[in-house]
Amino acid sequence: MDKPKISIAGCGYVGLVTASVLASRGFNVIATTIIEDHIDLINSGQAPFYEEGLDDVLKQVIKENKLMVTSDNQMAVLNTDITFISVGTPMREDNSIDLSFINTVSKEIGKALAKKKDFHLVVNRSTAVPGTTRNLIGKNLIQKSSKQLGKAIGLGMQPEFLREGSSVYDTFHPNRLIIGEFDKKSGDTLENMWRLFYEDRFPPIERMNIESAELVKYANNSFLCTKISFANEFANFAELIPNVDVNDVMKGIGLDERINPKFFRAGVGFGGSCFHKDLSAIKKWARNLGFNSKVLQAVLDLNENQAIHIVDVAEELIGNLINKKISILGLSFKPGTDDMREAPSIRVINELRKRNVTDIIGYDPKAKESAEEAIGDKIKYAKSIEEALKNSECTLLITDWDEFKELTPDDYKKHMKTPNLIDGRRIYDYDKFNKELNFRAMGRINLE
Ligand code: UGA
Repeated sequence: MDKPKISIAGCGYVGLVTASVLASRGFNVIATTIIEDHIDLINSGQAPFYEEGLDDVLKQVIKENKLMVTSDNQMAVLNTDITFISVGTPMREDNSIDLSFINTVSKEIGKALAKKKDFHLVVNRSTAVPGTTRNLIGKNLIQKSSKQLGKAIGLGMQPEFLREGSSVYDTFHPNRLIIGEFDKKSGDTLENMWRLFYEDRFPPIERMNIESAELVKYANNSFLCTKISFANEFANFAELIPNVDVNDVMKGIGLDERINPKFFRAGVGFGGSCFHKDLSAIKKWARNLGFNSKVLQAVLDLNENQAIHIVDVAEELIGNLINKKISILGLSFKPGTDDMREAPSIRVINELRKRNVTDIIGYDPKAKESAEEAIGDKIKYAKSIEEALKNSECTLLITDWDEFKELTPDDYKKHMKTPNLIDGRRIYDYDKFNKELNFRAMGRINLE
């Protein structure tokens, strides 16, 4: 069976990674972006952002002429068989979802479909509230093409579960495919395309209607965040019980096959471009339906609270923080990225500033520039760990970068004025660090 030709609207990390990975397995792919500056860059084999493993795949597929990027959505549709929509769905000021990119691009696709003779499948991969694919994308396709869904046009929704920093790996090795289908033909066309891609490594697949697939994405992220907030709640509870270590507790329950050990790392809470945005959007949308989600509210509240909590722990350890020099190790929302969106470091720094702490210095191996943009002059920025720790009176470790894991108690003692350390990500051996430093770790406070 011939491989279908693919177009992908949107060259963000989901769109460009999917485009590159598909092209690397022999699919002909045309990707589109509205960011003119990115077109020549990508067509020359360079990604406009850093994503582990992407550069190599992209260079190869550009060299082999398997991928091209353009701003012309209609041309892309007219020359392909399946179009994926992977455009942004940002959060508005009132926490609701902004669907304007989906709206614009689906109209463009519809206009092209008016001129197309053969069957064409349109698949939404952008995270959007249930109903968006059918009622916004589907309606635009019908209106602009004057054709009906089902016969000439297929419609599907396939949520993505890619992690930033691992999205190339995740695209090659997904743990499942979720396909929301308008009708059987749409679902079959999409499943067949992925069968040609994965061949004998085809992952488990679940096919369902479009709206259920749309909600899978929100429920998935909501559940992951619930696990994290659950671990954080037990961490805060554990801190009141001598000798209990929340890590052991989470390991213990994670071994229950019904639970699973992942996403139980307690710390200063979750960040990133998706978790907060998706939970806020679905909560707000549910409220418009008259449904008040108590779980989602609690998960978000607990997450906000972790930033306050770590500052409380610092005060409990060294007393009033005003006029003390405080170091922040790690600013990005997770290691391996310079992404500062919803980074816990921002919440921690805001909390410190609220308590009138002004002498704060931060260090991040990758995110110095983006942190300067996100945090501004609320803190100073160090160029090295040594500079960040120099004369410091308390260090809050916020992001679990590998280079912080290599630090020993002696490193902290050598540089800091007083070696007070709070391990906000549980990267250190508790007993070793507790013996040598004035030490606290989230989810384990020995009151003895
Ligand atoms: C997340 C999901 O993991 C992906 O499946 C999903 O596709 C993506 O959002 C999305 O919706 O686009 P990502 O935002 O890249 O991916 O980040 P994660 O690696 O999941 O980490 C998110 C945050 O949770 C980080 O701040 C991390 O430090 C925190 N976290 C994670 C914890 O605090 N504890 C844990 O046990 C795990």
